[in-house]
Amino acid sequence: MRAFFALALLALAAPACADGLVENVNGITLDQDGKVIRFNAMLVGTDGKVTELLTKKDRLPKQLDFRLDGRGATMLPGLIDAHGHVMGLGFQLLTLDLSGTNSLAEAQAAIKAYAAKYPERRWIIGRGWNQEKWGLGRFPTAQDLDAAVSDRPVWLERVDGHAGWANSKAMEIAVEVFYDKVLADDLVGKFFEDVDMEGQRIKQKNFLSMAFGGPYQFSGQDLRKAHGPLIDRLGLNDQHFDRVLHLFSQTLEELNISQKELDGMLEVLQSMRDAVMGR
Ligand code: HEM
Repeated sequence: MRAFFALALLALAAPACADGLVENVNGITLDQDGKVIRFNAMLVGTDGKVTELLTKKDRLPKQLDFRLDGRGATMLPGLIDAHGHVMGLGFQLLTLDLSGTNSLAEAQAAIKAYAAKYPERRWIIGRGWNQEKWGLGRFPTAQDLDAAVSDRPVWLERVDGHAGWANSKAMEIAVEVFYDKVLADDLVGKFFEDVDMEGQRIKQKNFLSMAFGGPYQFSGQDLRKAHGPLIDRLGLNDQHFDRVLHLFSQTLEELNISQKELDGMLEVLQSMRDAVMGR
């Protein structure tokens, strides 16, 4: 009698004809009541929907269109991850949103109006611009932004968070911070000792503009010419280059520039290493 029941149970557990089987998995899912259930194989019907979950005890069907060995991998069927960055959304609401702008001129007007509306804000921060949507055919420049606001620093992230748009004032502030670090540094400070203060600032600004993908595009030849004498006279080498990039990263971290943007800028600067080193 006991054997009969066991057979009957096996017959119940054995699935009817199915089209596909994914077996040998560490399957985890939820039942209709939200309770966690585990399984080792999954049957899939002709419509691509899961028809049955099986454990090691269940008999597998013989007639199958395909059979996939999961090799013990964990399987989470139907898991859909929906999540929101609530803090980020909250902060976004406190800053300028340019995602609705359809041209550079429209964005400039919005930035100008925002700055006028919030005269107490020391920095104008925002995001959402997209030069593709504007049909601009290029990235916007610091000059484009100066035309909207020039008396206060402005920093605006692109819609994807992978690029930033700074005005001249913001770059001046970054230059100040970077310049102080470079001059105070025991390894690279000496390179800048004989350079006059004003010219120095312009050069630092050019350095930053290059990192920001700005309008100053020096050729590899220019960089070789500017740094060649430093290699000959003061032994400029990769160690100095690394230190300058390190101080640059520190500066932007202090200014709260996101890691994503910083990585992009470091990549631009790294691509200039050989030219600066005269290679
Ligand atoms: C990616 C890295 C670098 C970039 C993009 C860069 C860019 C520039 C640019 C655009 C100039 C101005 C050229 C001119 O107008 O004459 C310049 C000058 C200069 N750079 Fe760099 N630089 C880099 C790395 C370094 C390093 C590692 C040092 C030394 C530690 C250095 C020291 C100097 C000095 C001293 C000058 C002034 C040269 C002079 O006026 O005689 N630079 N750099």
